[in-house]
Amino acid sequence: MSDPIEVSYKNNGCYRVVVTEDYSDLSQYIRELFPGLVRICIISDTNVSKLYLDTVKAALSDCCETMYDLVFEAGEQSKCLDTVKICYDRLLECGFNRKDLVIGLGGGVCGDLSAFVASTYMRGCRFVNLPTSLLSMADSSVGGKCGVDYEMYKNLIGQVYMPDLVYAAVNVLSTLPEREFSSGMAEILKAGLIKDASFYEWLIENFDHIMDRESAYLVKMLDTAISIKKFFVTRDPFEEGERMILNFGHTIGHALEKYFDFRYSHGECVALGMVAASKISHGRSMLSDEEFYEIRDMFVPFGLPISLDAYDTDAVIDNISHDKKNTDTGLSFILLKKPGKAVIVKDVSPEELKEACGCLIVEWD
Ligand SMILES: NC(=O)c1ccc[n+]([C@@H]2O[C@H](COP(=O)([O-])OP(=O)(O)OC[C@H]3O[C@@H](n4cnc5c(N)ncnc54)[C@H](O)[C@@H]3O)[C@@H](O)[C@H]2O)c1
Ligand SMILES: [Zn+2]
Repeated sequence: MSDPIEVSYKNNGCYRVVVTEDYSDLSQYIRELFPGLVRICIISDTNVSKLYLDTVKAALSDCCETMYDLVFEAGEQSKCLDTVKICYDRLLECGFNRKDLVIGLGGGVCGDLSAFVASTYMRGCRFVNLPTSLLSMADSSVGGKCGVDYEMYKNLIGQVYMPDLVYAAVNVLSTLPEREFSSGMAEILKAGLIKDASFYEWLIENFDHIMDRESAYLVKMLDTAISIKKFFVTRDPFEEGERMILNFGHTIGHALEKYFDFRYSHGECVALGMVAASKISHGRSMLSDEEFYEIRDMFVPFGLPISLDAYDTDAVIDNISHDKKNTDTGLSFILLKKPGKAVIVKDVSPEELKEACGCLIVEWD
């Protein structure tokens, strides 16, 4: 285990993000944080609960008087108000009050949902997140964003609620489906590209250990990726400036996600978005030929796409123009000054976008 990462937030609040191999130290953290705890309710999805609910319950057996659980159907479709209601009903039935503890055990869907339930039940009860997907360990463990989708709108209902603890046990990643693992890698490669060239190089040099999911490499990798996210979130908690840098690859990425009707995962679209954004940087001579091609090709060993068959680039660009990041002068966009250093620009032209989206299309001879 590496040292826990301390994340501070308003009113001098602070919580720890622990990245370690397994759940053997979890009970010690919980007992220290919540002495005399009466009830715990573990919220988890159908996939993760089958694999890890019993292990976590056993690890926490000496932490409270009574332990309850609630398991919902795995998948984004469960991140909705109907599931929130089922959770409230369960907490009521268990006689939960604000001093009791809700634990989310699962990927980003479970983290967002269970944190939202904990944040609203009786105006907020105790909450611990046990992320189990690579994306949720790397991306949702810092920042406190939680919530659910509503009708066709993703994350429409939600808020920011800090957990009391985030504890990521990387050994559980051994059962994560390959495509989900690669999807999480996109956000981790992004962290290196925007902020830390030596971390980016380390990822590339060690891709085989990482893709083999060797725990020591995963702990080191997540520690650095989470610290990079923390750097941006704590300097700009209200997303007014610098934090936008975390959106590298996301403007085109989100538009591709919608265009392909979520057939590609978030990470896959973000990887394609990072290739396209790097192309714009290359067009402005911020990246050399060599740097651009290396950035593009290095997504491949991590199982991420760098090209698409012919698609309607104009439709994707239209999608971007409706995006909230639009300004009067042009499109606000994150580009790379060099690998490891991102900048915010506000003047990306439609022609640049067109070329960037076009560079993703494979030309078959
Ligand atoms: N709050 C934030 O800051 C933040 C950041 C990024 C993403 N998100 C949200 O996270 C969600 C996506 O997260 P996700 O990709 O983790 O989705 P997810 O929770 O649906 O997990 C992906 C799949 O992997 C399974 N799974 C998770 N861990 C597993 C394990 N260890 N072994 C086997 N299977 C496992 C899940 O059951 C699910 O089928 C989205 O709703 C997104 O909006 C939130
Ligand atoms: Zn993302």
